[in-house]
Amino acid sequence: MFDFRYFTPTKVVFGKNTESQVADLIKEFGGTKVLIHYGGGSVVRSGLLDRVKATLDQAGIAHVELGGAVPNPHLGLVYEGIELCRKEHVDFLLAVGGGSAIDSAKAMGYGLVNEGDVWDFYDYKRQAKGCMPIGVILTLAATGSEMSDSSVITKEEGLVKRGYSSDYSRPKFAIMNPELTMTLPDYQTACGCTDIMMHTMERYFTNGGNMEITDALAEGLLRTVKKNAVILRDDPKNYDARAEVMWAGSLAHNGLTGCGNDGGDWMTHKLEHELGGLYDVAHGAGLAAIWGSWARYVYKNCLPRFKKFAVNVMDVKDEGTDEEIAIKGIEAMEDFYRSINMPTNLRELGVNATEEDLVNMAHKCAVGVGGEMGSARVLNEEDMLNIFKASV
Ligand code: NZQ
Ligand code: ZN
Repeated sequence: MFDFRYFTPTKVVFGKNTESQVADLIKEFGGTKVLIHYGGGSVVRSGLLDRVKATLDQAGIAHVELGGAVPNPHLGLVYEGIELCRKEHVDFLLAVGGGSAIDSAKAMGYGLVNEGDVWDFYDYKRQAKGCMPIGVILTLAATGSEMSDSSVITKEEGLVKRGYSSDYSRPKFAIMNPELTMTLPDYQTACGCTDIMMHTMERYFTNGGNMEITDALAEGLLRTVKKNAVILRDDPKNYDARAEVMWAGSLAHNGLTGCGNDGGDWMTHKLEHELGGLYDVAHGAGLAAIWGSWARYVYKNCLPRFKKFAVNVMDVKDEGTDEEIAIKGIEAMEDFYRSINMPTNLRELGVNATEEDLVNMAHKCAVGVGGEMGSARVLNEEDMLNIFKASV
């Protein structure tokens, strides 16, 4: 097991009607004037936004609001939010929504307490020295941004989608009421389950030594989400399945399922971020569309992990050669994606990529990772292009 640091400062408040505690939590973390930040309107339609505002009003907490965070959230709105918060003397950011609203709020948080252009952090030019405190009311179990140190923003000019990670942005609290996810379209629920599993799989497929306890947690999480994703496909209002998936989403990306490894692989995410930036696809669907091609490209370099995954997560019989078992595991994962209506290639994702697009995405991806990256197998620009080509 490698040395590691594990830091999860987020106070989790989980269960039915927990959003009613939002004012107390904001006060606990010193907020006096709040920006409520949300997405394209689902929280307006569900009535959640009005309930949150009424709760803050009752508690005497001043607030302003800014909606409009789109999936693959834009830098332009981040600038707008920073300006609004400065003008209104906001000292606490409350994201109400999914990963896009949360990530957009995190970027505003960096911009508000650091000098200069906030994009510098996403462009790897310098490191943030702080972030305005953030609280979350989660409406979509997927990204784990409610406990993670990451945010992912798209710069409209050049459609550059980049992530930035620092502990400063970890939310102070995360309110998680599984009932709030029941209004999700089935497609977004499935995208969420895919993303959750991928956050643990990115940490699982490594060449990073022994990590028995972490593997046990990871495999348990993967089996749980796989099972409950199918339950939700058939019964979207199932509270217990919603709850299992929601908690798994946080655990999958708060660092727990990577303790003791070598940092993880993360290339499926990096490749998907190019798809999300260029074609504006849902993140989880993009991951499902690229994973099989990535897995077939790298599995021989990470055979023991692919075999373990096949047997312990995908229920493949431990019979035949290691390679045969590993391939059966990859096929079983793709069958699972299909079973929850997720794509397994770019065509099924609805993307008609030209050769030029593939070359550009591979180039931007290589630049974004600083040349090469990966743990299951280290990939360079040519490898990235080969995987994109295999996924068409
Ligand atoms: O915008 P609204 O109207 O709220 O609708 C959203 C959006 O259309 C809708 N939605 C959310 N909750 C709902 C709901 N609709 C009905 N009922 C509800 N309860 O779902 C759609 C997708 O929302 P979004 O927030 O974009 O999805 P997600 O949570 O998957 O976030 C995706 C973004 O997060 C990034 C992704 O790259 C992508 O940009 N990621 C962030 C990470 C992080 N910060 O740690 C890690 C991830 O790997 C990921 O890269
Ligand atoms: Zn993800």
